[in-house]
Amino acid sequence: MYDVIEEFLRSQINLMPIRYTYSKIKKMSKGFKDKLGEGGYGFVYKGKLESGSFVAIKMLGNSKANGQEFISEVATIGRIHHVNVVQLIGFCAEGPKCTLIYEFMPSGFLEKYIFSQEESIRIPLSIEKIFEISLGVARGIEYLHRECDIQILHFDIKPRNILLDKNFIPKVSDFGLAKLYPANDSIVSLTAAKGTLGYITPELFYKNIGGVSYKADVYSFGMLLLEMASRRKNVNAFADHSSQIYFLTWVYGQFSEGNDIEIEDATEEEKKIVKKMIIVALWCIQMKPSDRPSMNKVVEMLEGEVEFLQMPSKPFLSSSPARPTEDVGDNLNSTSSSFQSGESSQSTKL
Ligand SMILES: Nc1ncnc2c1ncn2[C@@H]1O[C@H](COP(=O)(O)OP(=O)(O)O)[C@@H](O)[C@H]1O
Ligand SMILES: [Mg+2]
Repeated sequence: MYDVIEEFLRSQINLMPIRYTYSKIKKMSKGFKDKLGEGGYGFVYKGKLESGSFVAIKMLGNSKANGQEFISEVATIGRIHHVNVVQLIGFCAEGPKCTLIYEFMPSGFLEKYIFSQEESIRIPLSIEKIFEISLGVARGIEYLHRECDIQILHFDIKPRNILLDKNFIPKVSDFGLAKLYPANDSIVSLTAAKGTLGYITPELFYKNIGGVSYKADVYSFGMLLLEMASRRKNVNAFADHSSQIYFLTWVYGQFSEGNDIEIEDATEEEKKIVKKMIIVALWCIQMKPSDRPSMNKVVEMLEGEVEFLQMPSKPFLSSSPARPTEDVGDNLNSTSSSFQSGESSQSTKL
């Protein structure tokens, strides 16, 4: 009977996530045996519901900040449903730690498919597949921004927070930094906005270019799209930053002159796809938020033909690093060493 009820509840798309007891969570995860990942806030374990479906169980630490993260996640994805947003199934607010339960994503995060330090472990995805994934991510973010009474701003779009299901359908995940806003109140307070180096929007560094709004996610998406199209990491503590700036300057020059770029072993169709992704990315990473398109427009551009796309202005390429504000340091993870050195922050601005 329990299984039937659980299945029924799960099928009700607008229902609030289910509240579980801590002992249930423990049973589900077989005593927290199978660790899936480790993020900035705690461990994520694999578990199984009585109905047989697998779940990911995210345990949050018990500091005050994690309480905030718990509330952010339940308040944001707890109330929505979209094929490109990871589904929150339940939560538990008792026991030693606050816990979130999601549908399990067997293919892991996007990052490992688009680049890896070691070429040999990179699992190749076709250009079409990469494009499809990027379109799915765009639709997921568009949905978050579009909701009628509230708008959800994610603030941490990056390849590690995009999970893939068994069919490689992308799901926007990790709503720990997300915030809810009334749809008409578009400018948010600066302290609300955080992110990860390499994807943080420039209006957090330069206060004179515009307020922080949903365009912050558009910027981060642009960086992600650029990485997907070029399969190179925009911020890599070990890479030569000038080569990345060079790449963008070069590719911008080629496209503005109406040239195509050469891609090894790519068909004409594949070259068109890459070109489209790069042009849309260049729109998204415009320095001024007002010059960036909405996600709705981004989806439209990605769905359309490359021939109809206009070239944006040249994205700002910085050679002098600016000091990020204090707030943005919070969620820096693997890139924190390069961030703290203060030397490589230039690579966040293209
Ligand atoms: N639904 C899921 N299915 C499979 N793995 C997941 C899932 N959610 C999280 N993970 C794993 O746990 C890691 C951390 O989760 P995330 O929600 O991004 O937390 P953090 O805020 O700590 O970054 C992810 O990078 C991923 O490897
Ligand atoms: Mg994460």
